[in-house]
Amino acid sequence: MDAIRIRGGRPLKGTVSVSGAKNAALPILCATLLSEGESFVRNVPALRDIETSVALLEFLGRKSVLGPTTVRVGADTGTSRPEAPYELVKQMRASVLVLGPLLARFGRAKVSLPGGCAIGARPIDQHLKGLEAMGAEIKLEHGYVVARGPNGGRLKGADFCFDIATVTGTENLMMAAALARGRTTLVNCAREPEVEELARVLNKMGASIQGAGTDEILIEGKESLHPFDHAIIADRVEAGTFMVAAAATGGDVLVEHAPVEHLEGFLAKLRRAGCVLTREEHGLRVVRSGPILPVDITTAPYPGFPTDMQAQFMVLMCLCNGRAVITETIFENRFMHVSELLRMGANIDVHSNTAIVNGVPALSGASVMATDLRASASLVIAGLTASDETEVRRVYHLDRGYEHIEQKLAGLGADIERVKGVAG
Ligand code: EPZ
Repeated sequence: MDAIRIRGGRPLKGTVSVSGAKNAALPILCATLLSEGESFVRNVPALRDIETSVALLEFLGRKSVLGPTTVRVGADTGTSRPEAPYELVKQMRASVLVLGPLLARFGRAKVSLPGGCAIGARPIDQHLKGLEAMGAEIKLEHGYVVARGPNGGRLKGADFCFDIATVTGTENLMMAAALARGRTTLVNCAREPEVEELARVLNKMGASIQGAGTDEILIEGKESLHPFDHAIIADRVEAGTFMVAAAATGGDVLVEHAPVEHLEGFLAKLRRAGCVLTREEHGLRVVRSGPILPVDITTAPYPGFPTDMQAQFMVLMCLCNGRAVITETIFENRFMHVSELLRMGANIDVHSNTAIVNGVPALSGASVMATDLRASASLVIAGLTASDETEVRRVYHLDRGYEHIEQKLAGLGADIERVKGVAG
């Protein structure tokens, strides 16, 4: 397995460019299944999750070509099996996003249950309840969701209220409703920018979707949809990660193509922590020269503070000149970076879903282990602040969501390298 080795203690300086949004690319690649023609998804980041999505599309009969930043999804070869096997779904739980499109297009689907993951149980009950509201017959058999449209036919529009705001749940049902017979009203929807971006693509395909980005979405089902060519939005979480790295190292970094309009909740906290943020022509400049001030955060659905930025922000608070309280409300087990940060000299007390962070003057380098995507990013940031050497192991977690992160950080002056063949 690979590891990333960092000799930190150097302020990051320069310009870094943000790639396309992973969490927009994944549902949009699944949306290609709603049409039989050839589609193009552009500004796609080079990530393992994208490779997994392409493998899944190929399995579903859609010959795809993964270019440097574009995925060409080939025309439908007449898939004989609208199925997503466990071998692929276990690599990436977002594979569950083929369920809605396959059911809507073919009247049947068999998709492996994603199972839990490091950060929580992550059930998909809301996805299934919504599809049942549209007339789907859902069975759980041998670890698979086996779904059929009403009498094996077309889904029907329905009114459905989510019990909890779910990003991929909203996305799955939007895609299913796009080809359903009649009107669907989804209430208590997730409002994330990636949901809005998917709706933009579905409307490009000929769907009729209104209200995406709010908590109520109206979909008029269509008989069929046509293929699309779309360049996706920038990745707000990658952008935020580089902003925290700049702040934590006392740097001066221009984060190019940062989707500032999708980061307001997070940026308000970063300013409170003592950063100077300046909008420039091509991005947002982040400068931190004074002390890091303690800022309490509570993660929340968009537009609140994003759970995907919690681990990274915690590193900043580890170096603050006081005490910060971090509360995680979205996932039940998203503090796994804490034990590794403690090994680097952090002072953090966890009580249930709350972490009390008492700032320390500096973190010290150590060999640490990545456990999930955003925890990995937080350990890299911690290593960048420590004046000696840090080795982050199991960086395959990192490769799922960050494109060439060590190259981008080296471009900002970090002393960082990828080391192959390191025991996990
Ligand atoms: C999406 O995951 C993102 N992934 C996650 O990003 C992100 O952390 C999460 O939304 C929250 O913003 C993608 O978009 C591919 P949820 P998702 O359904 O859709 C509960 C990253 O690091 N829930 O919004 O799986 C669930 O347990 C990843 O890029 C149900 O109870 O998250 C959680 O507590 C990690 N039943 C809450 O809702 C359901 O049917 C929010 O989860 C669905 C969800």
